[in-house]
Amino acid sequence: MKKIIIISSSVREGRKSNRVALFFKNFIIDKNLAEAEILDLEHYNFPIFEERLKNLKNPPENVLHFAEKIKSSDGVLIVTPEYNGGYPSSLKNAIDLLYDEWHHKPIAISTVSDGIFGGSQVITSLQFSLWKIKALTVTAMFPVPKITEAFNEAGVPFDVEGINKRASAFVKELLWFIEAAVIMKQGN
Ligand SMILES: Cc1cc2nc3c(=O)[nH]c(=O)nc-3n(C[C@H](O)[C@H](O)[C@H](O)COP(=O)(O)O)c2cc1C
Repeated sequence: MKKIIIISSSVREGRKSNRVALFFKNFIIDKNLAEAEILDLEHYNFPIFEERLKNLKNPPENVLHFAEKIKSSDGVLIVTPEYNGGYPSSLKNAIDLLYDEWHHKPIAISTVSDGIFGGSQVITSLQFSLWKIKALTVTAMFPVPKITEAFNEAGVPFDVEGINKRASAFVKELLWFIEAAVIMKQGN
């Protein structure tokens, strides 16, 4: 069974995008698509970035834990809100901490907003950062507009059929990249 890590990026009090992270965890496990675990940046509470993990003399335990979880995963699904057309500093903080761990890592992105565009402006900046750090960014998207009308607090969608159909296609693409990465690694 492949391991998918879901990063819940918002650390905001009263955050809404975490609902989508909860949804994906349940969806992936219930459909038996892979193992799934949420890494919640709110719980990690990393300090503002000063240096990469590989250059830290005394790396904090939570940074080591995060790095190991990313490294040992087969793929990552990032759930991010849109803040002023970009992704939150909590997420940039976490991306910059690591380096080799992101290399050739298949990463799918779900963007969330309370407006009608589903955080679609985040995608270019986040994909670019992940491309720079040599991750394999999945081209499929999962924008969630009007988050409070789409999911309840437990991450259950109001339109179960519609969301499940979209989620199925989205996760399938991530799993395709995961398989492709395995084949490429075997070839090396
Ligand atoms: C600092 C900030 C900036 C925001 N900028 C945008 C934006 O550019 N576009 C948008 O559609 N929504 C924007 N929003 C609204 C968010 O989409 C909405 O608050 C959403 O719930 C954020 O996710 P979160 O609740 O998980 O933090 C912004 C919210 C905050 C707090």
